Amino acid sequence: MIDNIYNPEYVKTLFDKMSQSYERMNYITSFGFSIRWRKQFLKNIEKSSEKIKIIDLLSGMGETWGPTMKRFPNAELTALDFSEGMLNYATKKNTKYFKSNIHILHQDILKNQLPKNHFDIVICSFGLKTFNEEQLIILANVVEQILKPGGQFSFIEVSKPKNKLLQKLYGLYLGKIIPILGRILLGNPEEYKMLWKYTLQFENSNKAFEIFKSSGLKTTYQIYFFGCASGFNGRKQISINH
Ligand SMILES: C[S@@+](CC[C@H](N)C(=O)[O-])C[C@H]1O[C@@H](n2cnc3c(N)ncnc32)[C@H](O)[C@@H]1O
Repeated sequence: MIDNIYNPEYVKTLFDKMSQSYERMNYITSFGFSIRWRKQFLKNIEKSSEKIKIIDLLSGMGETWGPTMKRFPNAELTALDFSEGMLNYATKKNTKYFKSNIHILHQDILKNQLPKNHFDIVICSFGLKTFNEEQLIILANVVEQILKPGGQFSFIEVSKPKNKLLQKLYGLYLGKIIPILGRILLGNPEEYKMLWKYTLQFENSNKAFEIFKSSGLKTTYQIYFFGCASGFNGRKQISINH
């Protein structure tokens, strides 16, 4: 019996267990949509070929690195995650495809150890749903602290669409079919059921959006594919004290 699905230790174990199958499953879960969404959520940030500093929060095994380095080819990319399982794969990917140029941090973002006013861009794909409200407030404050003034950010998460029919279909797919595929192909049905449970609790990025706005960040809301994903992006203001 799970006491608290938002307990970081529980979340960490969940992702450690899923790490062997996560990348393949990610592709199947959203019919390849996740690949398109990753590109789309990055488009909310101005393209740049400067040597800017980017951090990919809750980076998993680096699913977003390819499109990030394509849009920001000269960026210094840092990636942060707290699951050893996910990071083992991320490290292999770093060596194989990125000449080990990506700086990987094994940290809990809720215990922020990152430097202040340091990053030009903060990105985060599909990492919001395992946070409760209190943790989202911590996350928003961390983003506000680590971004340089004028720095940009973009977040995206899988969401429950408003349209009832789409909701049923998406729920059937992510909540039932995927766990079955998880069992047949990969052996992790319970973990994949949990991801849908988190999505149902999370609903969409609206609450997180409001929290980010309240933390002083200039923030705009987005929906992707009729609300099957949602997110927000924006900037840290140059000065909020006037
Ligand atoms: C759903 S995965 C997303 C991975 C990747 N960004 C993607 O686009 O597929 C969420 C990741 O967030 C990490 N995570 C969750 N809570 C965290 C925390 N408090 N600190 C660091 N990483 C965390 C998990 O270990 C997991 O790898």
